Amino acid sequence: MGRVFYKQIILNFISFFEYWSIIGEGENMKQKVKLVSVGHYLPEKILTNADLEKMVDTSDEWITQRTGIKERRIASSGETAATMGVMAAKDALQKAGLSADDIDIIICATITGDYQTPSTSCLIQKELAAKKAFAFDISAACSGFIYGLDIAEKYIASDPSKRVLIVATEKLSSVTDWKDRVTCVLFGDGAGAAIVEASNDSSGILRSELNSNGDNYDLLIIKAGGSKNPASQLTLEQSQHFLEMQGNEVFKNAVTDMKNAAVKVVECSGWNKDDIKLLIPHQANIRIIEAIRKRLKLKKDQVYINLHKIGNTSASTIPIALSQALEESRIQKGDKIVLVSFGAGFTSAGMTIEW
Ligand code: UT7
Repeated sequence: MGRVFYKQIILNFISFFEYWSIIGEGENMKQKVKLVSVGHYLPEKILTNADLEKMVDTSDEWITQRTGIKERRIASSGETAATMGVMAAKDALQKAGLSADDIDIIICATITGDYQTPSTSCLIQKELAAKKAFAFDISAACSGFIYGLDIAEKYIASDPSKRVLIVATEKLSSVTDWKDRVTCVLFGDGAGAAIVEASNDSSGILRSELNSNGDNYDLLIIKAGGSKNPASQLTLEQSQHFLEMQGNEVFKNAVTDMKNAAVKVVECSGWNKDDIKLLIPHQANIRIIEAIRKRLKLKKDQVYINLHKIGNTSASTIPIALSQALEESRIQKGDKIVLVSFGAGFTSAGMTIEW
């Protein structure tokens, strides 16, 4: 009896050990997914604070102090979310030395797609002639690029042969009320794109944290044009096709949610402040960025800022900033990078990447 009992204990111990070796192996063997290249596109037309002074009751001083923005880009009438997305995608493909035939999936993050349907990703797929790719859009506002990266990472983890093109593109000028000084000073147009594939070394996405809180859906909203308030004479008269924002409330939530997401991914990655080469935050307001920088105890040169030149381009801010940081050699192989965002929904997201 005693011998059987001890034998059972030993067998249990062996299977417990085997279980943990398998789990451990699974963790180590998790397929890492990396960004092969990042590209961007900005329209030529520049709208300065001085230009806005002529359009609404505002001043360069107010805009600079309260937001940090000095100028933004505005798409021409012929440019759309899709055409700008195609330009950014071509830039990313060219930097990666790849062609459209090498892409299996296209994910487009946008809140200003060309049409309600079809998806902007399908228009991009057509224009690139990415014949074998399937394509779909995601709507996560300013967090759309990180949401897209996270979806791509999970997809490639289950099928490492796939290569994903993520395009974030916004023509916010098409939903901006140019008579509303609270919003029209903030937004700009532009697109960014990244190509993502299985990694063959230690580089790649480490941790991601995605959050949504629909309780505050109405604080940053385009009220008309959807199934709740279809386009009508009345919705047009009431300017309900423009982006409306309760700036102060959005600001407070942005600071809290971005801080939380950034701290969580940095801690989960086991990094400390000195490990971080570059924080690339959503570019909405310099005061929000400063609050996150201070919470993470980062030096100023550890944070990438292009807000003064480009303004808030929603989903596009992070890939545009990433693309520019790479072009400026601010990111090298092996560097530890943090992305963090906040947007309508509310949505927020953080991600750590070893480059
Ligand atoms: O990308 C998605 C996430 N978006 C964000 O994170 C944006 C978050 N919000 C913000 O960045 C800021 O709330 C704003 C920049 C939009 C506004 O700054 P604020 O410091 O929160 O200003 P406020 O809304 O509290 O307004 C302060 C004053 C008001 O005047 P009174 O009522 O005090 O007389 C506004 O009417 O500033 C006035 N104001 C302006 N004055 C000159 C608002 N917009 C302007 C303007 N020019 N453009």
